[in-house]
Amino acid sequence: MNPQPSVLVIDDESGILDTLRILLKKEGYEVATAQGGKAGLDAIRGGSPDIVLTDVRMPQFTGLDILQAVKEQDVMTPVILMTAQASLQSAIQAVNAGAFYYLQKPFANDELLAILRRACEFRQIRVENKQLKQEIRKGSGGSPLAGPTRPIGKSRRFLDILKLADVVAPTDSTVLLEGESGTGKEVLAHYIHDASLRNNGPFMSINCGALPETLLESELFGHVKGSFTGAVRDKQGLFAAARGGTFFLDEVGEMPPSLQVKLLRVLQQREVIPVGATEVLPVDVRIIAATNRNLEEEVQRGNFRSDLFYRLNVIAIELPPLRERRDDLILLIDRFLQDLAGEHGEPKALAAEAMDAVMVYKWPGNVRELQNALEHACVMCRGSLIDASHLPERITRRKRDPLVAEKAEPNPTLDLVERAYIMFVLQAEGGNKTRAAEALGIDPSTLYRKLSRYEGTEVK
Ligand SMILES: Nc1ncnc2c1ncn2[C@@H]1O[C@H](COP(=O)(O)OP(=O)(O)OP(=O)(O)O)[C@@H](O)[C@H]1O
Ligand SMILES: [Mg+2]
Repeated sequence: MNPQPSVLVIDDESGILDTLRILLKKEGYEVATAQGGKAGLDAIRGGSPDIVLTDVRMPQFTGLDILQAVKEQDVMTPVILMTAQASLQSAIQAVNAGAFYYLQKPFANDELLAILRRACEFRQIRVENKQLKQEIRKGSGGSPLAGPTRPIGKSRRFLDILKLADVVAPTDSTVLLEGESGTGKEVLAHYIHDASLRNNGPFMSINCGALPETLLESELFGHVKGSFTGAVRDKQGLFAAARGGTFFLDEVGEMPPSLQVKLLRVLQQREVIPVGATEVLPVDVRIIAATNRNLEEEVQRGNFRSDLFYRLNVIAIELPPLRERRDDLILLIDRFLQDLAGEHGEPKALAAEAMDAVMVYKWPGNVRELQNALEHACVMCRGSLIDASHLPERITRRKRDPLVAEKAEPNPTLDLVERAYIMFVLQAEGGNKTRAAEALGIDPSTLYRKLSRYEGTEVK
C-alpha cells in the first residue's frame, strides 16, 4: 500500500461526505468521495482505493451492492459499512457478504479512525503475503540462489521457531522436531536443510513407522549381496546415499528397539555397518528427526532408549499446534487459497461466517487439516466467496449457530446478539483476541471466558 492509504467514501448526503473528507485528510489519508451508490460504483471501477467506506441505505444501489462490486474487483480491499438504521439482521447480512466492519451512525471520529487503522493493517498483511508469494514463485525456478522457502507464519511463537532454525541451520547439530501431526515438521526440516551449508547435497527422508523392521533396516543401513533371502546384490543404504546432505528421520519414535541401537551408532561414531557386512562405512549426514509422540514419555515407558533420546535431543524445536497460534491462520489461509487458485486464477475468499468458523475451530489436524479443508471448500464453491456451507461439516458444526440462529430468529435474545457481535468483531480483528477485546471494550480474560463458553455449547 502507498504511504498514504486511499479511502473512497460513498454516501448520498453531501454533508457527510464533506465532514469525512476533512477528517480523513487531516489524518493523512488520500480521500476520494462519491455521492450516491451509482457514483460509488463508477469510482470503484475507475480506481482501486485501499479502503472503501460506504453508507448502506442509498437509493438505487445500496452499500451491499458496493460491497459486492469491491469484492469482485479485489477481495483484499476492506469495506466498512455505515448506517443509521442499523439492524442486527443487516449487520449479519453485511458480515456474511464479507464486510470488514459495520459501523452505526452516529459514530465518534475516534471510533472511525481506529477502525480505519485496523483496516489498513489488515490490507497490508494481505498484500504483503501476496507479494511474498509472488517472489517465491519468481524464485522457484530451481536456482540454488533462490534461498529457502520460508514456512508461513507471523505469530510470535512461529517467528521464534524460524529464528532458532536460522541459527541451527548452518551447524551440523542434530535437530529433533516435536509437534502434533500436521504442524509443519517436515516443512521445517526442509527449511533447515535449504538454509544449511549442505544445501547443495541431497535431502533424504524415511518414515520409521512405515516399513517393517527388516526392510527399514536395509533401507537405512544398506546390505550386502546374500545377507538375506532376496538380497541379490549389494544395496547402498540411505545414510550413505544422503552423503553430504541432510537425512530426515520422520516418526523416529516408531523405530523398533533393535534399530535404535544401530541408529545410536550412527550418531555416536558417525558410521554404519550394512546388513551382512563386516566393514563399517563412514556417514556424512546431518540428521533431523521428527516425532509426534512425546519421546521423553516414551523413554520413561521403556519404549525408547534414553541414550538415543539424548543424542537426538541436541537441539529440540517444538512446533505448537495451530490452535495455539491463531495469528498464523490468516496468512496460511491466504497462501493456500492462492495456491488453490493456481498461477493465474483469482483466489477465492472466505465469507465472514466461514471465517468465523475457521477462527474458532480447534484444528486437531493442524495445518494439514486447514489445507485440506480449504481445498474441499474450493471444490464445493463455484463462485468467488466461500461460505460456511462449503466447508467440511465438522468445522461448521459448532460455529454455524450464532449467525444462522440469528437469521431464523426474529427476536434474538441479548445473549445471542452479544455472541454474534463478539464473533463479528473477532473476525474483523483477524482472530486476534487481544485486539478484539480492546475493540469490544472488555478485558481479554472476559473475552476468553465467553469464547470458551460458546465453544462448549450449541445454539439450536
Ligand atoms: N508453516 C507452514 N507454512 C506453509 N505450509 C505449511 C506450514 N506448516 C505446515 N504446512 C503444510 O501442511 C502440511 C503438513 O505439514 P508437514 O507434513 O510438515 O507436517 P508434519 O508435522 O510433518 O505432520 P505429520 O506428523 O503428520 O507428518 C503440508 O502440506 C505443509 O506444506
Ligand atoms: Mg511429517
